[in-house]
Amino acid sequence: MKSLVTGCAGFIGSNLVDRLLSEGHDVVGVDCFTDYYARSLKESNLKSALSHENFTFVDGDIIDHCNLLGGAHWVFHQAAQAGVRASWGDSFKIYTDNNILATQRLLEACRDAGIKKFVYASSSSIYGDVSTLPMKEDMSPRPISPYGVSKLAGEHLCYLYWKNFGVPVVSLRYFTVYGPRQRPDMAFHRFVRAVMDGGEISIYGDGNQTRDFTYVSDIVSANILAAESDAKGEVYNLGGGSRISVNQIIKVIETLTGKKADVQYAGEQKGDVRDTYADISKAQADLGYAPEVGIEEGLRRFIELISK
Ligand code: UGA
Repeated sequence: MKSLVTGCAGFIGSNLVDRLLSEGHDVVGVDCFTDYYARSLKESNLKSALSHENFTFVDGDIIDHCNLLGGAHWVFHQAAQAGVRASWGDSFKIYTDNNILATQRLLEACRDAGIKKFVYASSSSIYGDVSTLPMKEDMSPRPISPYGVSKLAGEHLCYLYWKNFGVPVVSLRYFTVYGPRQRPDMAFHRFVRAVMDGGEISIYGDGNQTRDFTYVSDIVSANILAAESDAKGEVYNLGGGSRISVNQIIKVIETLTGKKADVQYAGEQKGDVRDTYADISKAQADLGYAPEVGIEEGLRRFIELISK
């Protein structure tokens, strides 16, 4: 099988590329190295893939490289401008360009490309603050961040290219992913580094907000399951299977490292939802999705990686 992975140098994209290569696939990866975080980190994410004979890397914007689709069976559209809290104000143009326009161009290119599956990386942030948990796919999405709006627009674009042109899309709503190569702006990366280095942790709001944290290898497995499945035009939640508050996370990190965290409470951040928790029964039933790494084990592995 030949796959195209957009955002191949990013956190999730690079983990997916490595898995596909290890399973014997041919992979074309494209990445334009947006400046949201250091290029050197993304380059190191790609290090092992670049030495693999079945990997072709293209440095550039998807919008200019839709011709890469030639012969691809699966398209994994992981490229995006990430970051819930950074999506306000003038920055929104970066989100509309990278999350909406780029998705539309790629879907347009897929109309006649004969691909077998287009897997879109969506986000739990499309739900906003819901009145009842867990979050289910048939709830009415009401994002509360510009980022969430841009990811929801991408989902809608996927659906309409399926409905009108039969592009075989599946959208996967990721719930706060962590693990090897996690972006440096995300909570676990910041918290673990601060505890290891004796730095300060800034907790937004009262720390009682909760997340359904999901280990990256489970997200990678779900992408491949979605590509292999018969599902088309569908949306799936991908959570890790538990819900824990930010304050509780700090306690787990303290226990696992044997170090005390230096915590300061900062103001609530606009765009942050209060709670997330995924109902994953649809992904379990249709895709065979079954998250394998629980929060304590995942954090233990993550701490081990950061301490190296
Ligand atoms: C994450 C990703 O960054 C999004 O790209 C993704 O779409 C989203 O998950 C999702 O699941 O939809 P977020 O949940 O904000 O967004 O992930 P973290 O940055 O790991 O934050 C988790 C929690 O920790 C949030 O409540 C946040 O406010 C809090 N936090 C984060 C802090 O208290 N302090 C920090 O320094 C960073």
